[in-house]
Amino acid sequence: KELDTIKNEFITNAAHELKTPLISISGYTDFILMKHNENLNPEMRDDLNIIKRNVYRLEKLMDQLLEVMKIDEHKLDLQKFPTNIKELLEDCIREISYQLKAKEHKIKVNVDKNLILEIDPERLYQVFTNLLSNAIKFTAKQGLIEITSKRLDNNTYQFSISDNGLGLTADELARLFKKFETIKSPIRDKINISGTGLGLYISKGIIKAHGGKIWAHSDGLNKGTTFYFTLPI
Ligand SMILES: Nc1ncnc2c1ncn2[C@@H]1O[C@H](COP(=O)(O)OP(=O)(O)OP(=O)(O)O)[C@@H](O)[C@H]1O
Ligand SMILES: [Mg+2]
Repeated sequence: KELDTIKNEFITNAAHELKTPLISISGYTDFILMKHNENLNPEMRDDLNIIKRNVYRLEKLMDQLLEVMKIDEHKLDLQKFPTNIKELLEDCIREISYQLKAKEHKIKVNVDKNLILEIDPERLYQVFTNLLSNAIKFTAKQGLIEITSKRLDNNTYQFSISDNGLGLTADELARLFKKFETIKSPIRDKINISGTGLGLYISKGIIKAHGGKIWAHSDGLNKGTTFYFTLPI
């Protein structure tokens, strides 16, 4: 137990230290792209954009590691505010609209526009963005993604995010929420989707910290997947 704490502290410090130069690299890359825009030929611009993309991936990984350390140490400090969920979702969809367009997916949102819950908006934003980006990634082109919400009882709201994509076997469903689990299989290798396998582990930690539950359902390969989570009212 003590060894785990020392290990977590080390990873947390390392992730923080690694973020500082990354912020500088991404800042200077943006600076060159903007300030020297006219002096750049297309090849240079493409190369700089590759640097930008990879720095972004590293920054995301560092942020994910920091979240995992907080979850493992039960130190996820929630900043809860009464939040309009539909508006939060619209922000998420705006952020991933590029991926949605690239894959020509349709998205349907069936959430009460007046629904307000006392939650940590930044954390719930992460949960929605990860579930949505998973649905986009693991669904072939022109898929359908649906988000619904319903009141289960006086104390609970339930959300679902469904896709009509790749689906999951019973064995894969059982492993989904593990740390660093990306679920390797020949079919998935063919689609060649990169990820760190931390999104669902973090999502679970966030929903649990809110007093809710998260789980997934799929009827099998190519039968689509639905993720459910609950939040207390
Ligand atoms: N909607 C889905 N349909 C099919 N498989 C899914 C779906 N969502 C998740 N998975 C599987 O579960 C794995 C774990 O998901 P998770 O979000 O934790 O990681 P990731 O998306 O691979 O990486 P990260 O979110 O850290 O960038 C995925 O790699 C994928 O194989
Ligand atoms: Mg993910």
